[in-house]
Amino acid sequence: MQIRKIKVEHFDQLYSLSKLIFKEESWSKDQLREAIEDDNYLCISLMDEGKILAFLIAVQSLDDINIVSVATHSDHQKKGYATRLLNWMINLAKYVEKTLSLEVKSKNEVAIKLYEKLGFVKVHERPRYYRDGDTALIMFLGDTK
Ligand SMILES: CC(C)(COP(=O)(O)OP(=O)(O)OC[C@H]1O[C@@H](n2cnc3c(N)ncnc32)[C@H](O)[C@@H]1OP(=O)(O)O)[C@@H](O)C(=O)NCCC(=O)NCCS
Repeated sequence: MQIRKIKVEHFDQLYSLSKLIFKEESWSKDQLREAIEDDNYLCISLMDEGKILAFLIAVQSLDDINIVSVATHSDHQKKGYATRLLNWMINLAKYVEKTLSLEVKSKNEVAIKLYEKLGFVKVHERPRYYRDGDTALIMFLGDTK
């Protein structure tokens, strides 16, 4: 198993996995293709024999890396895969001296638990931010904000 950059040749797999996990809330094909092709995006995956088991997409700005999507294939959840990808991004953010941020639905208890375990803290909330009325929690790694 390896952490690999997601390339154009992995596009179909990435889109299928994103649809499987996020369903109608998945990024569109165009959005995912742009993320793979745009150098400001960091698209990494945990791969086994060419198969994507989990992926993480982040976008970097001048002083921040913002995690926009993390998902693990439903057959492979709770094996520590998302933790590995997040730790990889945490190390990168520390190395390049950028903050690391993300946004998560307040109802997504599994993800929030994972982020808190890795040291993310909630810095603010955006009530009714999502189409379904859920609140967005904005989290940063450590006390960097
Ligand atoms: C959130 C998600 C990415 C976690 O992926 P994962 O590879 O299963 O995560 P890990 O195995 O690294 O889990 C690490 C921690 O997450 C939490 N966790 C993961 N799955 C959980 C579950 N089903 N119930 C409760 N806690 C869970 C636990 O704190 C776990 O630590 P532990 O094993 O020491 O208890 C995965 O559940 C997923 O793809 N969810 C749907 C997409 C999503 O919500 N993404 C995040 C928002 S963009």
